[in-house]
Amino acid sequence: MLIRRALIAVISLAMALPVWASGEHERRLRVEIAILHGDTKILIDPATPPLRRQGVRQRIRSSLGTLGMLARYAVQEGRPPPPGLRKQVADLRALFASKNIRAFARRLDQLKSSQPLDISDFLPLTATPLRLRTGQSIYQSLCMGCHQNPDPTQPNPAPNLFSMAAMMPRDEFVARMLGGIQGVHLTTLQNPFSDEEIASMTAFFDQAQPGR
Ligand code: HEC
Repeated sequence: MLIRRALIAVISLAMALPVWASGEHERRLRVEIAILHGDTKILIDPATPPLRRQGVRQRIRSSLGTLGMLARYAVQEGRPPPPGLRKQVADLRALFASKNIRAFARRLDQLKSSQPLDISDFLPLTATPLRLRTGQSIYQSLCMGCHQNPDPTQPNPAPNLFSMAAMMPRDEFVARMLGGIQGVHLTTLQNPFSDEEIASMTAFFDQAQPGR
């Protein structure tokens, strides 16, 4: 309840940039592809423990559903999705269902290259004192409770965001920050933060040390 109230307070702050303005679904689509690509690398990595692998498989299945849905939304809004996207998503689903993960990963590489995520709004990431303060304040009031100590007994634990920032390619981390944060039902579970707030949090996770 506290989280919900705090999130609503954050949502009502004057925002520097709208989160999902025009081209929203296109960016959402590219974010989803970048996350799916990153999750597939985790699935293929032999060092990934079996329980985590199970969780990542669940995430990939749900992400493939989201991709199909985003393609349909674009059609409903009169903005056709990129040509061939629906077939590509259907092919990916079939490859994943047939457990042909290598072929799945190759197809996904192609899809990611044809639908790159533009993260120029987030780079170079200038860690101004204001951004670091904003990032820290959002993290401490809204994220830390769940994300500070990942539970290793969960297939999809809330990850430590400082470790993630330290380990991941920049475009993948930004994609996960754009796609991985969920709001409350009032915001239809969409990421409630502005790009500026996401950049502030990203700067903060970048500067601080893992485990903090
Ligand atoms: C109620 C608990 C909770 C709160 C509060 C919360 N998260 Fe999460 N978060 C999770 C869980 C659990 C996951 C993992 C979900 C999954 O993998 O399916 C997650 C996933 C994420 C991811 C995606 C990680 C990935 O692997 O792609 C990001 C990024 C993230 N959270 C950022 C945040 C930020 C930033 C905040 C604060 C503004 C926040 N979360 C608040 C529980 C929470």
